[in-house]
Amino acid sequence: MLQLRNISKSYNDNNVLRDINLSIEKGEIVSLLGPSGCGKTTLLNVILGLTEVTQGQILYNNREIQRKPMQKRNFNIVFQDFCLFPHLSAYENIVYGLKNIKKRIHDKRVTDLIELLALRPHLNKKVHELSGGQKQRVSIARTIVMEPEILLMDEPLSALDSVIKESIKDMIQRISKTLSLTTIIVTHDPEEALTMADKVVVIENGEVAQFGTPNDILNHPKSEFVERFILKQLKIKRDHIYRLFGDRHGA
Ligand SMILES: Nc1ncnc2c1ncn2[C@@H]1O[C@H](COP(=O)(O)OP(=O)(O)OP(=O)(O)O)[C@@H](O)[C@H]1O
Ligand SMILES: [Mg+2]
Repeated sequence: MLQLRNISKSYNDNNVLRDINLSIEKGEIVSLLGPSGCGKTTLLNVILGLTEVTQGQILYNNREIQRKPMQKRNFNIVFQDFCLFPHLSAYENIVYGLKNIKKRIHDKRVTDLIELLALRPHLNKKVHELSGGQKQRVSIARTIVMEPEILLMDEPLSALDSVIKESIKDMIQRISKTLSLTTIIVTHDPEEALTMADKVVVIENGEVAQFGTPNDILNHPKSEFVERFILKQLKIKRDHIYRLFGDRHGA
């Protein structure tokens, strides 16, 4: 279990995160949702260990880790722009991180991941021969193959068209549930957050405006901000969402 207790982060006088409290269970998919500049990436980086907290505690399985360096946390991130090695094939990218680890042990895991992400037909392609969705799947495989205890993703779907988005969303859910892998996904899109995550953290100006299930957030928004942000953003997508989660607005 990952717990954030009274986490704050300031850059000079700018309080980017304020008194964040969250509990995330093993195997949960949690979305960090909020408008541009509200602190989503900063919070992700704080969990990853790339950014030091100004105040507060991070506990992982009841141990304090806020001063632990990133490499020792064994959390891993999928970057928004994929960051693949252009001169290597899809397969070489996937197994790159295993170079120094005995390969035999990992064969089955690699094969399973390739199947889960439907990457078999693309393994020999060089990066420039892959589509955006294929690159994203390779970058997810490359991260998961290292067996992170927590998978972090910053806007993993934002560069993809809506059809590919749906299939990658399904794959992320399937992987997270099959491997019982705690997954934290940053997005500014309420539809993505509400349809993908077990729990959603709505962030307003560096603070948690609401932390709850998609159902809670949609049907019991805790503040006007949550209601306005979600409804405004959903726009025409809202009919679809309400069909999935019920409708208190009569839309
Ligand atoms: N290294 C830094 N130094 C100073 N200020 C920073 C730094 N990183 C982030 N900030 C500030 O913190 C605030 C939150 O930034 P952050 O990148 O976390 O937002 P975000 O919610 O991820 O936004 P977006 O949706 O646009 O990616 C912004 O005002 C930003 O200018
Ligand atoms: Mg960001």
